Amino acid sequence: MTSPLTIASSSKRPTTRIAEPRGPITERLFAAFERPPHDLAWAPDVGAASEDDLHLALYCCYELHYQGWADVDPDWEWEPSLLRVRRLLEDRFEADLRAEVGPVGTDPDTVPNQLWDLATGGTGGPSLSGWVAERATLDQVRELAKHRSAYQLKEADPHTWAIPRLAGEAKAVMLAIQADEYGNGIAAEMHSSLFADTMTALGLDATPNRYLDELPGSTLATTNLISFLGLHRRLRGSLVGHLALFEMTSIGPMSRYARALDRLKIPARGRRFYDVHVEADQIHQHLAIEGMVGGLLRQEPHLADDIVFGAKALTAVEARFASRVLCSWDNGLTSLRVADSAPESAAA
Ligand SMILES: [Fe+2]
Ligand SMILES: [Fe+2]
Repeated sequence: MTSPLTIASSSKRPTTRIAEPRGPITERLFAAFERPPHDLAWAPDVGAASEDDLHLALYCCYELHYQGWADVDPDWEWEPSLLRVRRLLEDRFEADLRAEVGPVGTDPDTVPNQLWDLATGGTGGPSLSGWVAERATLDQVRELAKHRSAYQLKEADPHTWAIPRLAGEAKAVMLAIQADEYGNGIAAEMHSSLFADTMTALGLDATPNRYLDELPGSTLATTNLISFLGLHRRLRGSLVGHLALFEMTSIGPMSRYARALDRLKIPARGRRFYDVHVEADQIHQHLAIEGMVGGLLRQEPHLADDIVFGAKALTAVEARFASRVLCSWDNGLTSLRVADSAPESAAA
């Protein structure tokens, strides 16, 4: 089914479909979005949902809170029956994550060391950035940029939901990190803008969600995780843990991606996104663990478990993402969805 829905228009954005549905949930959701907000009177069978259907549906619900969709009435954002549907999708996502991460019983004093252990332990699987640095072709680097575009073109936005939910030192330090992410007042220096430059240098279209149809559920889950944590105040500790681990695991991969772009002779403007992160995250990683996580623990020590859960959930979704990409490449296949033939893997 082809949906006529289009992405939110701005001066530079051509319109494009929201996405092709991937199963019964997105079929029904996208059909509803074609009409004004109304009572959905529907409870999707999330237990039977494929990973692709579940995460595309969740992603499209969350986008209503960011730039929206051009032909979707903005009042859908707070339509109670849609929020009920979204809640069911989130319940399934959270239950799967908690089952995978396992119980987290944490003494607040051990949180920094636990996060450093996670940061230095990798995902437990082969290194995606190592593979890219040494072996990736230009087409594979382009694939990776498409995967990452779902988050990087709105980099920092999902974590910003935490700011009004924090106080004192944790809030102030998070704002210092986020100010850098947003280019300190210079639009062209926003990390999202630098990633758009990378896409352009790679010959890609940097229009947000331009490649949504090609992104598997395992990719969308990496972005959905941050939106999920960000939109629930009860999970503010997990959002902080997620951002902290993001900052603590950035320098190595970013320098390897920069090396890959060098090897492939991509113009310097294209690798600036990676160079900027190598430099900025030398500082951000310490701000994150000492001021942001430390500040939150001093204020709200009961959030220790949540902080570790957010970091472990990040590790889990990144491991699944990397393993899908590397498994495809090892078999000489694309890691992207191929229209109309992408397998419907069961959500894990
Ligand atoms: Fe960044
Ligand atoms: Fe950073």
